[in-house]
Amino acid sequence: MLSQQAGDSGRRASLHGNWSSRMAFILAVTGSAVGLGNIWKFPYIAGANGGGAFVIVYLFCVFLIGMPVMMSEILIGRRGRRNPIATMALLGEEEGSSRQWQWVGVLGVLGGILILSYYSVIAGWTLAYVERSITGQFTGASAAEIGALFAEFTGDWKQVALAHTVFMALATLVVARGVERGLEQAVRFMVPALLVLMLALLGYAISTGSFGRGVAFLIEPNFAALTWDGVLVAMGQAFFTLSIGMGAVMAYGAYLPEETSIMHASAAVVIADTGIAVLAGMVIFPIVFANGLDPASGPGLVFETLPLAFGQMSGGVVFATIFFILLVFAAWTSSLGLMEPAVAWLIEHRNRTRRQAAVMVGMLIWIIGFGTVLSFNELEGFRFLRGTIYDNVDYLTSNVMLPLGGVFISIFAAWVMCRNSTADELGGAGNAYRAWRFLARFVAPIAILFVFFQAVGVI
Ligand code: PFF
Repeated sequence: MLSQQAGDSGRRASLHGNWSSRMAFILAVTGSAVGLGNIWKFPYIAGANGGGAFVIVYLFCVFLIGMPVMMSEILIGRRGRRNPIATMALLGEEEGSSRQWQWVGVLGVLGGILILSYYSVIAGWTLAYVERSITGQFTGASAAEIGALFAEFTGDWKQVALAHTVFMALATLVVARGVERGLEQAVRFMVPALLVLMLALLGYAISTGSFGRGVAFLIEPNFAALTWDGVLVAMGQAFFTLSIGMGAVMAYGAYLPEETSIMHASAAVVIADTGIAVLAGMVIFPIVFANGLDPASGPGLVFETLPLAFGQMSGGVVFATIFFILLVFAAWTSSLGLMEPAVAWLIEHRNRTRRQAAVMVGMLIWIIGFGTVLSFNELEGFRFLRGTIYDNVDYLTSNVMLPLGGVFISIFAAWVMCRNSTADELGGAGNAYRAWRFLARFVAPIAILFVFFQAVGVI
């Protein structure tokens, strides 16, 4: 019987070891959350969707939908203590529903694989930019020169493929080392260091003389510029940036010691993640306006603005090098959460060692990644539905798979699981619990489905 497996305390043990402390868990989830999504993606999609109004919708989504979904996901993970597929099947049965909930886990495993296939390519760009920083290629360069440098690099598929390969090897290496030795050590210093460097860059952004304009772009809402598709993109970004809706946080929750408060941990992660994204916007947009660049220029935005700043400041070579190394680390710690659900599944169900599982998943993602590698060069003209292969994989994962995953996760936690189970995981039935339950029962699923159907044109 499953409930017997739960033992005396009513709780199962994790199969893959545990985080060594509450702080380690917060660091790991923050490490997963803070990544390219904050510094590369948030500014470029905010820019492409008109700024202020997009940012407001994004913030609403983060706090009213993202946070309750994150709590739901962690509590499911800790209750099940298996990989996301097995956890959903096990809890589905245990809570008197069905094992078919496992498909939510499958959706997540696939989502992680698809997201990492393009994430790794962009992370490869940041790796290549470490080399360009060290060799001083930005020093004194004009906006046009920096733009040309970026176009020349991404236009050469061999260089992009090499960087993607190196990054996937790095990600596979850490996942292969396992929960405590691998994941935990990688995240300890990255987030604080990134924060310090972003603050230094903020100083530069203030000195450009366009700080007011840049910040105004971020906060002045122009709702006329916002379409339903833009709202869906903002919501997708909320999911993407918090790493929720696909089982990554569920997999991390499976290694969470019982005494840790899920509410406090989630709040800490959401605040850190949002802070870094907003900071990135406050750094990028003043540089955009000070140099007459286009805020809607797309995925290259950060690679065309920050090098410009570094090239003009004293000590820029050192700052640029540190910054891009930190970005590599941020991407690295995020990539682990994307692989972990698939890796944990192979270990538990296909009898693989962690090392074998990591290599298998890594190779698969590496191969799929070539779709994105080629989207910026050889196959740039190959467009369907939303655009290039990259555009489609990005749209499908962030704006379809993650939000749908979020609907199922919140419905499962707040409707299917019994009150006792969720209150037990969330530390009692006080006001905070009631607020979570209301948001997870009604607000999150209804809002997600509403936006989703508005954007795809059904409503
Ligand atoms: N949250 C990461 C970022 O903002 O860069 C991306 C991500 C990592 C998404 C892990 C999903 C995930 F499971």
